[in-house]
Amino acid sequence: MLPSETENLWTISAGDLSIQFVTDENQRLIQRLFSGFQAEEANGQPAFPGAGNGWVFEPAVDIIHADGNASLDLRVAGVEQAENLTCFTLRDDQYELTLDIFFKALPQLKVIETWTQVSHKEASAIRVQALASASFDLGSDELYITQFCGDWANEANMVEEKLTPGIKVLDSKLGVRAHQFRAPWIIVSKGTLKEHEGSVLAGSLAWSGSYKFSFEKLPEGSIRVIAGINPFGSTYVLEPGEIFETPKMVWAYGNRGVAEVSQNLHNYVRRNVLRDGHRLRNTLLNNWEATFFDFDEAKIVSLFQGAKDLGMELFLLDDGWFGQKFPRDSDTQGLGDWQTDSAKLPNGIRALSTKAKEKGLKFGLWFEPEMVNPKSKLFEDHPDWAIQQPKRELELQRNQLTLDLSNPEVQEFTFSILDNALTENPEIVYVKWDCNRYLTQPGSVYLSKEKQSHLQIDYVRALYKIMERVAMKHPGVEIMMCSGGGGRVDYGALRYAHEVWPSDMTDPVRRIFIQWGFSYFIPAIAMAAHVTRWGERPLKFCFDVAMSGRLGMDADVDSLSEGEKDFARKAIATYKGIREVVQFGELHRLESPYEGARSALMYTHEGRAVVFAYATEGNTAGPLKLKGLVPSHTYTVKEINLAGEDKLLSSFTGDQLMTLGLPISEMTQFVSHVFELVG
Ligand code: DGJ
Repeated sequence: MLPSETENLWTISAGDLSIQFVTDENQRLIQRLFSGFQAEEANGQPAFPGAGNGWVFEPAVDIIHADGNASLDLRVAGVEQAENLTCFTLRDDQYELTLDIFFKALPQLKVIETWTQVSHKEASAIRVQALASASFDLGSDELYITQFCGDWANEANMVEEKLTPGIKVLDSKLGVRAHQFRAPWIIVSKGTLKEHEGSVLAGSLAWSGSYKFSFEKLPEGSIRVIAGINPFGSTYVLEPGEIFETPKMVWAYGNRGVAEVSQNLHNYVRRNVLRDGHRLRNTLLNNWEATFFDFDEAKIVSLFQGAKDLGMELFLLDDGWFGQKFPRDSDTQGLGDWQTDSAKLPNGIRALSTKAKEKGLKFGLWFEPEMVNPKSKLFEDHPDWAIQQPKRELELQRNQLTLDLSNPEVQEFTFSILDNALTENPEIVYVKWDCNRYLTQPGSVYLSKEKQSHLQIDYVRALYKIMERVAMKHPGVEIMMCSGGGGRVDYGALRYAHEVWPSDMTDPVRRIFIQWGFSYFIPAIAMAAHVTRWGERPLKFCFDVAMSGRLGMDADVDSLSEGEKDFARKAIATYKGIREVVQFGELHRLESPYEGARSALMYTHEGRAVVFAYATEGNTAGPLKLKGLVPSHTYTVKEINLAGEDKLLSSFTGDQLMTLGLPISEMTQFVSHVFELVG
């Protein structure tokens, strides 16, 4: 029997989401409500099921005690609710083991963060085999999950499926980055996912390593979601008195479809996650697709001129600027040797960044500080610093290995790469932080044999400490999380960064899909989108797609025709005029690229709106229904980002634009439009 509500009921709420817990007669913690999913009745299951001792399904926590007992008996020993933080303290009294389950409600942002921690006073170390950041009962209705999966240059494809009996696991085992094959984001919906209808729960783990989301439909019909660090290969040996804390799982819920759930997440990311989320981002020119490794000072300086002529604000020098014994002329060598390649850049980075400044450009630099090529001075000097397994041939990805950040010496080295460069070159105000491989042979020369399985967790923790030190010491330097495109798009790494590079895929036709997928969890301000010549699409189409995120270019601007330069110059100026709406605005997804030849999205901000429409396939026509406008306001609509003058269309009321739609003439493939509305 459950105790009466008044004595023993705890509610955690933010926005439309309320979660309630009670204790049963044995002081076990039971969830009795999860908005939109689990009705107000407890099914008797433990809220945070522990392995062993009766629970035969996926556990949220799995621990082997010092004496070898592999079971838990967790009962509520205390609950603290202060302001928006709730902590349930559960104890296994037979073992002096404590599990704290935390919920932080952010009612203004309509988000709830959950995490857990375990500690003990057993006679010797315990083995934490799994400890989730969240465990919820999502009731017995028909639920669908949407994942964001793919591969390099094909990230964030949306795949939806219905949960059926058994267990569905979405995970990553990549260790040093959350994602290459699947972003650490998940959406659960009652029925299929809709923009403006239905109960929707979105979750994301703030962790840049291996993660696991499991959805188990239990025999009695209810569905339990368990989310957190992937236990795979990550048993943690926890000494008495030590605390193991999990990363945060971030949850946003809405009962009117996914549109407002992603708007809430965008606000949360802008205000609580991203660095300087209130500050407009620069337009930038990157030299990667223009030169790859093949450049010298003269070429870069000429790109400065090109960038300046077009109106770009920042220049980013990519891979290839370093390496002396093994110059970084290709991806086969030099990684780890962060001294300027004096053959390419005889006057060093300082001279280059000063020249950028003289041209009125800010300057940024590429780093991949956690990696090493075996063909490098660093590897010659410190072969033991690379992650490796004994008796196994080194497995390279992109000809490189990962440095062992569990080793404090390596942590210092990694920090010093950035710290030295940023201290010696105060003109550097932007860093592209890359990470072009994942772990395949998780072994550490530094860690003891008992603690080899700490590697993946210690790595990410150390990485965050390094990122934090860089951010604290160089607060004026903006950071892009790159990772070969899309690898570190988690809310963990984003706390130290300003934006992500969603994908190396820059053909705008594919980018429309990738950016669409990203739009569910990542606001436009943090979505770097560059115009390149990949796919050879019309330049306007490329700009129109990139302008819906944080605009940049990654092309040899020297080789553009005069006409192309004119267009680019105008487009960049146009973007500067609308970027406040794009970067700070509320996103409205209008037409999905998954559903037709035309796709469209828009942003609204302080009485202004910007609409983007793209034809990815054959001919498409018909009015485009807008969203997020004030029905009674009259909006003047003009088409912008044209080769010639902006085209004033007409004035419409918000109601007309939202119900009848904006009239758009037929669009053939690769035709696109940008409209600006002023209310
Ligand atoms: C992968 C990134 O995604 C690219 O943009 C570029 O920076 C290369 N790495 C450089 O090696």
